[in-house]
Amino acid sequence: MRIAVFDTKHYDHQALELANTAFGHELVYFESRLDAQTVSLVQNFDAVCPFVNDRIDGAVAAHLAAVGTTLVSLRCAGFNGVDLGACASHGIAVTRVPAYSPEAVAEHAFALLLSVVRRTHKAYARVRELNFSLDGLVGFNLHGKTFGVLGTGRIGLAAIRIARGFGMHTLAYDPAPKPALAESLGFSYCSFDSLIARSDVLSLHLPLSTATHHLINAKVLACMKPAAVLINTSRGGLVDTHALIEVLKAGGLSGVGLDVYEMEEGVFFQDLSAACIQDDQLARLLTFPNVLITSHQGFLTQEALAAIAQTALANASAYERGERLLNEVLL
Ligand code: NAI
Repeated sequence: MRIAVFDTKHYDHQALELANTAFGHELVYFESRLDAQTVSLVQNFDAVCPFVNDRIDGAVAAHLAAVGTTLVSLRCAGFNGVDLGACASHGIAVTRVPAYSPEAVAEHAFALLLSVVRRTHKAYARVRELNFSLDGLVGFNLHGKTFGVLGTGRIGLAAIRIARGFGMHTLAYDPAPKPALAESLGFSYCSFDSLIARSDVLSLHLPLSTATHHLINAKVLACMKPAAVLINTSRGGLVDTHALIEVLKAGGLSGVGLDVYEMEEGVFFQDLSAACIQDDQLARLLTFPNVLITSHQGFLTQEALAAIAQTALANASAYERGERLLNEVLL
C-alpha cells in the first residue's frame, strides 16, 4: 500500500523502516500533523498513518474519500482525534494500535511520580548550578501510601503491578471491574468518590471521551487529600486545567505529573525554545515548582516504537488483503 505517514520524527522513521521490511509498503513521511490544513498533501495514497495529535475531522475525512484514501491506520491507542462517524459515512476504515507496551506508559507514570515526590527535577537543576543545598527537597515515601488508579485496563494494571512492588496499597475504580485480577494482583475496587478521597497518589489510565472530558474538575479536586499527587499520562482533556491551576495556587496537592495537556496539539513534540509560549495556562502551569510536565513521551521507548510500527503496518496489510480487521475502531 502507498501510505502517507504523518507527524513523524526520525525515531518514527527508524522504527517504521525496520518493521516495513516484513510488509513492503511504500511509506512517505510528513513531519506535519494531519489536519484540515495539511490534508491536501494526501494525493494518490491508499492509506494515511496519523499519530495522537492529528485531527481527522469531517473535512479531512471528506478530502480523503475524494482522493481515494480508504484507510486511517492510527499509530496510537487513543482515537479521540478521529471523527468516526464522518469516516464511516465516507467508507473509510479506522484501525489503531490498541496495546504496544503498557509498561512503557506505566513506567513513565512512575518516573513522573518519583520525580515530583522526591523533587529530583529540582535537585537536578540545582546541583548543576553547584547548589548542593537540600532546602525544599523533603519528599515522602511511596511505601505504605495508597496508589489510586482510575481505569484498570492494560496500562492501569501495569501501573498497579509497579505500585505493589513499591509496597503501596492499591485502590481502583473502573466501570468494568476485573475482580479476578484484583484478587491475584492484590488491589481493591471502590467507588469513584472513595478513590478520590482515599488516594495519596491518583493516576489516570482511562480514555478521553465526552463522558470523561474534565472528569477531574474543581469539585473532584476539592475532594482529594490536600497532599495528594495527581499523575496524568492518559489524555490532557481528562483534567480541567483551569481548575487544577486554581487548586495549585491555593496550595493544594503536593505534586502533579503531567505527560499530557489538554491544549498540547501544536505544542508538544515541537521545539519552541526560540519562540514564546502563546498558551498562558501552560505557561502558568510551568511556574509551579511541584508540577512536572513531559511532552507526551509515555510511549517513547524502543520497545513501544517497534511494537507501534509493527501493528500499524500489519493493520494496513490486513486491510489490503481484505481480512477481518482485529484492530478496527468501530463507531
Ligand atoms: P484500555 O482500553 O486497556 O483501558 C482503559 C480502561 O479505562 C478500561 O478498563 C475502561 O473500562 C476504563 N474506563 C473507561 N471509562 C472509565 C471511567 N469513567 N472511569 C474509570 N475507568 C474508565 O486502555 P490502556 O491501554 O490502558 O490506555 C489508557 C489510556 O492511556 C489510553 O486511552 C490513552 O489515552 C493513554 N495512553 C497514553 C500514552 C502516552 O504516551 N502518554 C500512550 C498510550 C496510551
